[in-house]
Amino acid sequence: MSTTATQYETDYKAKFGPRAYLNEYFQEVDQTNHNVMQFIVETTEMYPAKLANATLLNFGCGPAIDTMISFAPQCAEIHMSDYLAGNLAEVQQWVRHAPDAFHWEIFLRRALSLESHGTIPDAEVTQADLEAREALIRQKMTQFLVGDAAQMHPLGDAATASYDVVSLFFCLEAAATTIEQWREMVKNVFSLLKPNGLLVWVMTAKQSKAYYVGDELFNIVPLKQSDIEAALEGIIAADSLKIQYFDVVEHEHVEGAYMVTALKAG
Ligand SMILES: C[S@@+](CC[C@H](N)C(=O)[O-])C[C@H]1O[C@@H](n2cnc3c(N)ncnc32)[C@H](O)[C@@H]1O
Repeated sequence: MSTTATQYETDYKAKFGPRAYLNEYFQEVDQTNHNVMQFIVETTEMYPAKLANATLLNFGCGPAIDTMISFAPQCAEIHMSDYLAGNLAEVQQWVRHAPDAFHWEIFLRRALSLESHGTIPDAEVTQADLEAREALIRQKMTQFLVGDAAQMHPLGDAATASYDVVSLFFCLEAAATTIEQWREMVKNVFSLLKPNGLLVWVMTAKQSKAYYVGDELFNIVPLKQSDIEAALEGIIAADSLKIQYFDVVEHEHVEGAYMVTALKAG
């Protein structure tokens, strides 16, 4: 355990195992995965003009590609970024068709089914459609960037305000150890978004305190809806903030999740 104020693990470089994380959260499509994928499909339907030909940054991507399945058709490019080179290597293994890459088929099936509004059940998604979507995601994932939310310019100065869309899934509340640091990270990461750009943000909520990666229990900063509203004040366009909440039942120490969209101020 690293020496911080929290009782849970915070040392990503020493203790976060990319494969352990994938095995923990992506062996099946659980209700949390499903809700997040459904939210992404709804977001693509709500903001087609913001996503058309967009360069999307998926910040704190971890070793996972599930959240990019339904963004890929509209975006021009997807840049994957994480604090850990090992997480990016896991994604790149999949992009390169490495024989021991993680298998995402059940997630692809669910995403394509959700895109069909349930008219095509998971099991009836055709092999041709699966392969076409996999090829599209691989083609759109053009960059793999080490990034640190704790830095004022998380991807270096050149990337400031350069993205049409920034997405974050379960990242900053896991990266920060205090609410003050979380607020700072929000500011840092959203500086990467262009004026009028789209923010797509999913995070653990309320009294969520920790999450398992293998035997390690990693820290989470508990977040209230008012924390999100306060952190985005002055950053986003008035009236653009939309927040949904759902209970998380399948993960110990996690109470729920917020799913957020907003447009950056112009
Ligand atoms: C709970 S995982 C989420 C991964 C992925 N987005 C997902 O939804 O499965 C948290 C991620 O935050 C990353 N992370 C930790 N500290 C970070 C930092 N300072 N800057 C950027 N990412 C960080 C970790 O490497 C890890 O991939």
